[in-house]
Amino acid sequence: MIVEEGKAKIKLSRDVFYNPRMTFCRHLDVLAYKVIFDVEDREVRSLDALAATGVRGIRARLEAGFLPTFNDRNPKAVELIRENLKLNGIDAEVFNRDAVALMRENRYTHIDLDPFGSPAEFIDTACLSALKYLSVTATDTAALCGSAPLAGLRKYAIYAEKTEFYPELGLRTLIGKIVREATKYDKAIDVLVSWAKEHYYRVHIKLRRSVALAGKIYENVGYLFYCFNCGNRVWAPMDGSSFERCRCGGRFKMIGPLWLGKLHDKEFVRSMINKVGEMSVGDDTKDKLKKFLQSIHDEIDVPFAYTTHHIARMLKTSPPQVARIIEELRRMGYKASKVHYSGFGFKTDASVDEIKKIVLALNAQY
Ligand SMILES: C[S@@+](CC[C@H](N)C(=O)[O-])C[C@H]1O[C@@H](n2cnc3c(N)ncnc32)[C@H](O)[C@@H]1O
Ligand SMILES: [Zn+2]
Repeated sequence: MIVEEGKAKIKLSRDVFYNPRMTFCRHLDVLAYKVIFDVEDREVRSLDALAATGVRGIRARLEAGFLPTFNDRNPKAVELIRENLKLNGIDAEVFNRDAVALMRENRYTHIDLDPFGSPAEFIDTACLSALKYLSVTATDTAALCGSAPLAGLRKYAIYAEKTEFYPELGLRTLIGKIVREATKYDKAIDVLVSWAKEHYYRVHIKLRRSVALAGKIYENVGYLFYCFNCGNRVWAPMDGSSFERCRCGGRFKMIGPLWLGKLHDKEFVRSMINKVGEMSVGDDTKDKLKKFLQSIHDEIDVPFAYTTHHIARMLKTSPPQVARIIEELRRMGYKASKVHYSGFGFKTDASVDEIKKIVLALNAQY
């Protein structure tokens, strides 16, 4: 069977992984690659390290002008990648290696890690091998978001428990892990764009080689002190303070180390939106891509979201609409926005106590 995705034609095989539910993710990746290609203004040598059918690298070549190398340790995947390259008129190197060994020996401008499950075992070597850009997928969301604390410790050396903002926590765990692997190679990071969707997390990162920046980046890595009793949260970098008790008398749980910095670069996301018109997809999909990217773009840069349900549950009242809370927070001079991964989440620089007051006042109006 052959499927068409963007500008690519991809032959499928029962023995090689292909997930049609990740097509939207690959559209978003193509947009990110197009922006990177413009910024670089020259060859982007890229490694599709866990390529399966080769769909990501093939689309990166056809739609964003990247120069990909392909790799998969499954010989059947390698055979299929070769067929798919021919089918799309692409000439490229294909390896049948363990990705870690290959990355240890070679350097690439960009590396794409798209494993089945956890990327943890690949991140270290990818940070060494990638000279400028790194894209990572993770589908082990339970380990990353705190719903499986022991898996979080084993895979990412972080401690987390499930909170109401768990998709954001998952992204911050993943990015935090990448930072802690990258800095030993004297590389700091900028997050270009990241998102949490359905069963997976995805992040596109720019690496910067600099001893000074690789030390300074730890201003953006630290711990969240979260009170499960009242929803209060404070955070501090790794060399910062520690907190034991919440002002409500509850005990703080210390969660981390986590990435505390930006989850996207507004200008980068704006450039991705501007490229949607160039995509070889239907108008419906273009609208969905624009809408999704706009929701990422509009998210304010304050860590740790709230949800209306969680606030309402703590107050033993019914949840008001997110849009009403945001409107009220803004009217009072706070920053506030929705979140991209859920219709019930919002972000603000107001404290949980302020939010509770607003929710009670809003509910009293009805
Ligand atoms: C989730 S699939 C990749 C999907 C593909 N990138 C896409 O967008 O459809 C993961 C692939 O990684 C390969 N793989 C797993 N561990 C590997 C390793 N250590 N080295 C190389 N390939 C590996 C598997 O054979 C599988 O084909
Ligand atoms: Zn508390």
